[in-house]
Amino acid sequence: LEKVLEMEEKPTRRRVVLVPVPAQGHITPMMQLAKALHSKGFSITVAQTKFNYFIPSDDFSDFQFVTIPESLPESDFDDLRPILFLLKLNKECQMSFKDCLGHLLVQQGNEISCVIYDEFMYFAGDAAKEFKLPNVIFSTTNATTFVCRSVFEKLYANNVLAPLKDSKGQQDELVPEFHPLRYKDFPVSCWATLESILELYRNTVDERAASAVIINTASCLESSSLSWLQQERLVIPVYPIGPLHIVASAPTSLLEENKSCIEWLNKQKVNSVIYISLGSLALMEVNEVMQTASGLDSSNQHFLWVIRPGSICDSEWIECLHEEFLKMVSRRGYIVKWAPQKEVLAHPAVGAFWSHCGWNSTLESLGEGVPMICRPFSTDQKVNARYLECVWKVGIQVEGELNIGGVEKAVKRLMVDEEGEEMRERAFSLKEKLIASVTSGGSSHKSLEEFVHFLRTLKR
Ligand code: UDX
Repeated sequence: LEKVLEMEEKPTRRRVVLVPVPAQGHITPMMQLAKALHSKGFSITVAQTKFNYFIPSDDFSDFQFVTIPESLPESDFDDLRPILFLLKLNKECQMSFKDCLGHLLVQQGNEISCVIYDEFMYFAGDAAKEFKLPNVIFSTTNATTFVCRSVFEKLYANNVLAPLKDSKGQQDELVPEFHPLRYKDFPVSCWATLESILELYRNTVDERAASAVIINTASCLESSSLSWLQQERLVIPVYPIGPLHIVASAPTSLLEENKSCIEWLNKQKVNSVIYISLGSLALMEVNEVMQTASGLDSSNQHFLWVIRPGSICDSEWIECLHEEFLKMVSRRGYIVKWAPQKEVLAHPAVGAFWSHCGWNSTLESLGEGVPMICRPFSTDQKVNARYLECVWKVGIQVEGELNIGGVEKAVKRLMVDEEGEEMRERAFSLKEKLIASVTSGGSSHKSLEEFVHFLRTLKR
């Protein structure tokens, strides 16, 4: 009898199928989640599109990777930009993912217990539902952006979104009952109409009968948005389990990291360098790059700048920049095409992060106690920037057209003035809270344990 009981108690290994959006800012947290679940005893299958296929290193040798055979031309991403591309990708993958999941079910049968998909890969939720498989939405952005999407829909339905279409005034107004967000902080994009953004947002929520939502955030950052989501918006459980980059490390860079910048940082003084990076999608005009460089130069601060190939409009890399730019770099800067960002942010020489405020960059910066200069480009980055400045008070947002004076002022406020020191102290205290939240007894740690229990007890 003891033997039988022992066998019954032995946990059966369950498999989860993960479906990431094929973009750096989404693949990274999905693979961190994969690592976290694997360490809890789950087997992992990752279903990726052909587009932007992430080639796994040996770190993922225990995982199964399968391809969703869509046939979108590579040029579609550049032509359509994220929102329209995602709408098209979802249509394109509808059938092919169903086939893919069907094959997996034939191969692995009952072992597959759940499909976890990025909120923007909602075709995966549809397919899971057809096979009567439990499915879970993974939000790689934050809870406040999730709330914004609901508010946005409601305002649109009530015809009060005029300020968003008005290029002159009103955009600066606070959204009623949603302070401190202004109309211009809504997660919209200059690359798509309000209507197509709404179409995407409507599809990201739970109408497909998902079983739960997990969010890469911590309650110490967004407790009121999380409560609102759970009480007003979602009937299914919400699990805030982040920041996942502290929970599990996963090498997922799509571009090669240039580690020489760490040697350069080793030669700089503590808190003396501004790290500049705009993530994997944002673009800058030549004039903006020149104004930023001149502002940094006149503020006498050292900088490490990631200029991703193709991130300066109409240029392969930096060949379009004036000679003056290279002179400024040689005086006090260092440039790489792609950096080991988490290592850079953890380096004692880095005193501030000039960022587009993508959610991963935001979490990585807060996780190292580094205050930020916020220059958001689109969607959730604007929400994050507003929270960094007005709620967590660890950032300064640079708004409007970039000019030398504005850049110099923001840089000095953060790197030289007492105000910057206060922000650094607040950032340090947030870092401690975030680390505590993912360690035993912390809120995200508890939430992950609960989610794992939930996954283990899911019935097909
Ligand atoms: C996108 C959206 O822009 C972002 O707002 C959303 O939250 C996720 O999807 P992205 O623009 O790439 O992501 O920004 P971010 O979320 O910050 O992710 C970038 C990732 O690339 C980070 O994990 C960062 O560490 C990494 N990175 C960036 C590097 O490893 N090296 C670099 O040089 C620059």
